[in-house]
Amino acid sequence: MATAKPVLCVGCTVIDFVTINESFPKEDTDRRCRDGFWQRGGNASNVSTVLRLLGADVEFFGMLSQSDGFRVLLQDLERRGIDVQHCPTTDKDPPFSSVIIVQGTGSRTIVHCNKNYPYVTWEDFSKIDLNRYGWVHFEARNANETIKMIRSVQEHNRTHNEHITISLDFETLYEQNLPMCALCDYVVFSKELANQQGWRTAQETCKELARRLESKSPCIICPWGSTGAACLDAASNGCSMVAAYSPDRIVDTLGAGDSFMAGFIYATSVMQNNLKDAVSFANRVAGHKITDYGYDHIA
Ligand code: FRU
Repeated sequence: MATAKPVLCVGCTVIDFVTINESFPKEDTDRRCRDGFWQRGGNASNVSTVLRLLGADVEFFGMLSQSDGFRVLLQDLERRGIDVQHCPTTDKDPPFSSVIIVQGTGSRTIVHCNKNYPYVTWEDFSKIDLNRYGWVHFEARNANETIKMIRSVQEHNRTHNEHITISLDFETLYEQNLPMCALCDYVVFSKELANQQGWRTAQETCKELARRLESKSPCIICPWGSTGAACLDAASNGCSMVAAYSPDRIVDTLGAGDSFMAGFIYATSVMQNNLKDAVSFANRVAGHKITDYGYDHIA
């Protein structure tokens, strides 16, 4: 029941090599895993996948590799109906992640390899007609270029009647990426990054981040695993905790954060939910995601 304009997701797509293990491997041992698979991964790429499974119209905008191994990823994007028409290409090998999933807990340990793979630039972005979209979602990455892209969307909003919503997935490099926050409508801030800042709860994280952004604060959302997620409403400055959805089994937590992000975007843009209801829906999508491998069971 997608009625909203398409969502444009800006960021990375990578190959995830996943093994399912009985326990976490000891260093310098040679062992067998229970099972394994590989799939298209990367934050914005996963957000696109889940948004599409939920029924939204989605375009992905990121650097695509022309290498042989990447072809299956392109086929997957096409099969799922994720538009990639504006993506630039490179002959460089794509980034990849080795992911160890432990059976029983569903924990995921990611070792990521990105050998200076090029990122999309503002110049590439500026060729896109923004009138087509109702929402543009960014990964907080490559600050210089991403800030220019966000400013283009802001400029578009200043000169057009229809407002394009801007969201940011903030997971790494606090100092470098912080300046992007004040330019967005929604910022989703990760628990891992909050811990690095010494912030001990989801609500503390929302409040501390808002304090640093002062008057220009966006709505801030901070998912905190099984505790739920906090959200701070920019308009009222009220901060609340939204309970997690606890599934009856935890199988695969890879991409749970990306599924949360997609659930939030879908609930806000397509379902027109208010902030707390959208966070609650995002919790449900993330909670459901971890009950099985991959993403297809979300549909
Ligand atoms: C999960 C994920 C994986 C990818 C990694 C990149 O959130 O997007 O698919 O390998 O993060 O950091």
